[in-house]
Amino acid sequence: MEPSHALSAPTAALAPCRHFLQFRDLNAEELTYLFGRTRLIKEKFKRYQPHHILADRTLVMIFEKASTRTRLSFEAGMHQLGGAAIYLNTRDSQLGRGEPVEDAGEVISRMCDLVMIRTYEQAIIERFASRSRVPVINGLTNEFHPCQVLADIYTWVERRGSVAGITVAWIGDGNNMANTWAQAAEQLGFMLHLSSPGGYGIKASVAGVSGRALRHFDDPMEAARGAHLVSTDVWTSMGFESEGAARKEAFAAWRVDADMMAVADRNALFMHCLPAHRGEEVSAEVIDGAQSVVWDEAENRLHVQKALMEFLLLGRLN
Ligand code: CP
Ligand code: NVA
Repeated sequence: MEPSHALSAPTAALAPCRHFLQFRDLNAEELTYLFGRTRLIKEKFKRYQPHHILADRTLVMIFEKASTRTRLSFEAGMHQLGGAAIYLNTRDSQLGRGEPVEDAGEVISRMCDLVMIRTYEQAIIERFASRSRVPVINGLTNEFHPCQVLADIYTWVERRGSVAGITVAWIGDGNNMANTWAQAAEQLGFMLHLSSPGGYGIKASVAGVSGRALRHFDDPMEAARGAHLVSTDVWTSMGFESEGAARKEAFAAWRVDADMMAVADRNALFMHCLPAHRGEEVSAEVIDGAQSVVWDEAENRLHVQKALMEFLLLGRLN
């Protein structure tokens, strides 16, 4: 499955293309393949061995929200694959002036090989993808952040091996990260303990899960008890800033601190997608402590996304 630029010709039949809009867009077997490729690509990078497998390919990155890691990892990643990346944001493009998403999908996808979008509602990226001739990757929506969870699970795999059968505790907001972890739990066969303040939990219908891999806890300490991996995220995600004060109050007991890590498995890891607010969702002691792998998570965005772009454009290579 190798899309060519010729597909942009108006009369060419559209080849089916794979998107990565939600975590469940990749099945367990494909995820295992992807993690294997990630390891190889990361090792080559560490040895300064070129991996220009996407030479002459162009990635367009569309940002409607701020980013440090996502922009950097996609842009540097595409460069490391031998291709080029173009950054567009709502402010400086027609996207911010009301051009229909479907029209943008038609136009942008005729000029590049791959698109990454960070936006608000999941429906926006779905509409774009419905008209795109090239693979579209979700770089974060209100509902999902699949590239981050790919990197997080790869980070676990790198340190501990398979996630099958482990227990992951999600402490805090039922946000895009929580929904994505819920999909990952179903895809990869681990248990997800969730604890959120009342009214802030995930909804299975939004997360797109059956709920068979989820257990809900009112008390965050109980959610963390025995967990092999404890993860959290900001109390107020991008786009929800007007709720910030109310959330600070509601989430006060949902802080991952040393007491909480003490009830988790003794070898438990701590993860956070970053950016973090020390003293809010996590104590400095935990995020800067020995169980924290937050810098590895950030670094692994680079490599897992290179494996993802390679897979979406070239399919399986071994
Ligand atoms: N974790 C993450 O996606 O970070 P950015 O918002 O900096 O891209
Ligand atoms: N849940 C956070 C993640 C940021 C990377 C947000 O959406 O703002």
